[in-house]
Amino acid sequence: MLKFNKIFVFVLTLFAVQCVQYDKAESLNYLFYQKASYCPRNNITNWECGNICKFHSSMKDILVYYNDTHAAQGYLGFDRGQIVITFRGSTRTLTNWIYNFDVKKTPYQKCQNCSVHSGFLKTYIDIKKQLLQNLDNLISKYPAAPIIISGHSLGAAVATIAAIDIYHFLSENSYQNIIKEVHTFGSPRVGNEAFAEYYNKLIPQTVRVVNNQDIVPHLPPNKIGYYHVGTEIWLDKEFNQQKDCQPFIEDDNCSKSVKSIVSYSFFDHVNYLGNDTGCKAPFSQVICYLESGIEEGCVDQDLEEVILKARNNKMRLLFLTEEFLQN
Ligand SMILES: *[C@@H]1O[C@H](CO)[C@@H](O)[C@H](O)[C@H]1NC(C)=O
Ligand SMILES: *[C@@H]1O[C@H](CO)[C@@H](O)[C@H](O)[C@H]1NC(C)=O
Ligand SMILES: *[C@@H]1O[C@H](CO)[C@@H](O)[C@H](O)[C@H]1NC(C)=O
Ligand SMILES: *[C@@H]1O[C@H](CO)[C@@H](O)[C@H](O)[C@H]1NC(C)=O
Ligand SMILES: *[C@@H]1O[C@H](CO)[C@@H](O)[C@H](O)[C@H]1NC(C)=O
Repeated sequence: MLKFNKIFVFVLTLFAVQCVQYDKAESLNYLFYQKASYCPRNNITNWECGNICKFHSSMKDILVYYNDTHAAQGYLGFDRGQIVITFRGSTRTLTNWIYNFDVKKTPYQKCQNCSVHSGFLKTYIDIKKQLLQNLDNLISKYPAAPIIISGHSLGAAVATIAAIDIYHFLSENSYQNIIKEVHTFGSPRVGNEAFAEYYNKLIPQTVRVVNNQDIVPHLPPNKIGYYHVGTEIWLDKEFNQQKDCQPFIEDDNCSKSVKSIVSYSFFDHVNYLGNDTGCKAPFSQVICYLESGIEEGCVDQDLEEVILKARNNKMRLLFLTEEFLQN
């Protein structure tokens, strides 16, 4: 507790109080930047993605990066005087990426005792080279522009890992650009507590928006050693901030106070600020999680099998289908 208080005081001194204040209109800007990252690559490159692209009609110098290995995608661009960097979430027919895909932590070399979700790290590494090369190009054109970073869901996790590399990339090259803000939606936990502490020291200007009862920020659970980064902004049903959450800790009085499994909402995960989080139609996916069966994950194509397996192995099935949650 004490160490977080120290960081808090440090941050207050550096950034004043604004860094934890929520500006809904500004948040909507970030939401629409990241929505575009879900669109087909050509649409992003040509900035032709209907209302999403029109929302930021002055976007230019767009560079898309992607890698099919883990379906990673995102883009950089320049808009409103800033370099915009985004990462998309999962577009496969499943959201069991949290569990099916390398939930095991892997050592994170940049800091002592740090570890991160190996699937998130792999997804980032797939696009790291393209991202930094493209960023280098953009920086040569806009050598003083502030950088903003956004992502939703898996994209939020990738954004978190990327932000650290971008931070080091800027300082190693003595670039003047700074990371103005990392602004994520529905982020899962990315790494352990040592990782969160390291992250928070480098990039305290991180806003982690959590919509009401979104289930994903509850994953992967604390009890297998995961811990959130940044400062939570917890939204209510009307997408207004419910509470001031304490910076850099998982505030028990914010989204963490939603403890009942059946209260967790998938719909809240894919609908932020009254807008679908993706490029086109609303998602229709299944999320589930077998407690103590973490490495097994679950298979969304066959939910019955998952339920059966949970029963046979006396595992608790924590997350159910979107349909279930809506009924
Ligand atoms: C992508 O671009 C094509 C061609 O301009 C257009 O027909 C299509 O509607 C666009 N898709 C989206 C999701 O905006
Ligand atoms: C890393 O973990 C070891 C063993 O738990 C501990 O002694 C050490 O202080 C930790 N280092 C940091 C930087 O937290
Ligand atoms: C895609 O990811 C794989 C695995 O990390 C990597 O070997 C490959 O070089 C990447 N491709 C590009 C174009 O970066
Ligand atoms: C949560 O709220 C309770 C009661 O208002 C308070 O005693 C406690 O300190 C709060 N916890 C945090 C982490 O702010
Ligand atoms: C997105 O959200 C804003 C703010 O809540 C709202 O005004 C707007 O109508 C929404 N857009 C769509 C396409 O739903």
